[in-house]
Amino acid sequence: MILITGATGLIGSHLLYCLLSDGGDEPIRIVVRNRSRIEGILRVFRCYDPSWSALPDRVEVVEGDLFDGDDVSVFLEGVNRVYHCAAVVSFSPRDRYRLIEGNTELTANLVNGMLAMGVRRLVHVSSTSATGRPLPGMAVTEDLEWEYSRMQSGYAVSKFESEREVWRGWAEGLEVAIVNPAMVLGPGNWGESSTGLISRCDQGLLFYTEGVNAYVDVRDVVEAMVLLMESDINGERFILASANISFKEFFFKVCHALGRPVPRFRARRWMAELVWRLEHLRSLITRRPPVITKETARTALATTRYSSKKAEEMLEIWFRPIDESIEWTCEHYLKEKQGRYSDS
Ligand SMILES: NC(=O)c1ccc[n+]([C@@H]2O[C@H](COP(=O)([O-])OP(=O)(O)OC[C@H]3O[C@@H](n4cnc5c(N)ncnc54)[C@H](OP(=O)(O)O)[C@@H]3O)[C@@H](O)[C@H]2O)c1
Repeated sequence: MILITGATGLIGSHLLYCLLSDGGDEPIRIVVRNRSRIEGILRVFRCYDPSWSALPDRVEVVEGDLFDGDDVSVFLEGVNRVYHCAAVVSFSPRDRYRLIEGNTELTANLVNGMLAMGVRRLVHVSSTSATGRPLPGMAVTEDLEWEYSRMQSGYAVSKFESEREVWRGWAEGLEVAIVNPAMVLGPGNWGESSTGLISRCDQGLLFYTEGVNAYVDVRDVVEAMVLLMESDINGERFILASANISFKEFFFKVCHALGRPVPRFRARRWMAELVWRLEHLRSLITRRPPVITKETARTALATTRYSSKKAEEMLEIWFRPIDESIEWTCEHYLKEKQGRYSDS
């Protein structure tokens, strides 16, 4: 039996679809914190095939929270392979310690449970934010060493610490493969995780930055994960990125695909520094999450390029072009938006 954590999320729901469409009959267990989130999984399935109305019998749904260490053995009963996609994704400074403690602890619980119950293989979803920093002008590769700094977001620290728990499991005998995806593009629960970028463009953007980041299609992420699970690759991590482009280029492409006006003004460093501070103040007064944080503002200004050469060579993966990923994501965003309007 296969276990998927985080199946209600962006990557997890596409992964579940990918596994179900393989025509096999191996049972799949998913852990959900709230059953109402299953409708979100089915919405993702309908992007591929509009006839999905329920999860098939092959999928066993177990309710639970991975943060609760006692429950993990229940989830792992009869399981021999695990895809670990669950994590809290947030860049709000308010969530910093909840993220670091929560994401690390839930991964540690899973790894400990797998070791205790003799579960063989783990494919873990880490992030490019858990990779080291390159020399100026170089791209980030898998072998760069992580260094703590005050500039790192709570999310980045939590992903690094989670990955460390997975490496500990590997040292103690687990078979492990890790993916480090860049910003993931694909239809999901709009507004959550990286799909928030699409909704933000739809709401209208005034500013862009010249910072550079990498992106990857969710279909490529899940294909790489399945490939790794089926392979005998053990103790390796893989950066998954299709394109390194500026935020300006990314926002322009998304706005064009959504039929929205493109942002007109370039945000200078001093503006970004001012805006995140004002947002911080606003969030303290209103108790609502900031739209821009110190971390997101600085990421938007930074130029970081990622190399996916290792995945291309070792896994023989071909990454979809970013234009195709943006078109596909925005097409489903618009379809769903139109559906929502006609429902109301
Ligand atoms: N999206 C990206 O751009 C991106 C890029 C690189 C890496 N990643 C990594 O990929 C993984 C999946 O991200 P995503 O974009 O799919 O995020 P997402 O859409 O926010 O999904 C996160 C999933 O984790 C589950 N979860 C969180 N805390 C949990 C807990 N304590 N117990 C059980 N389940 C829990 C959530 O369940 P609920 O439905 O109950 O909330 C949800 O299913 C994460 O590890 C993330 O760090 C994402």
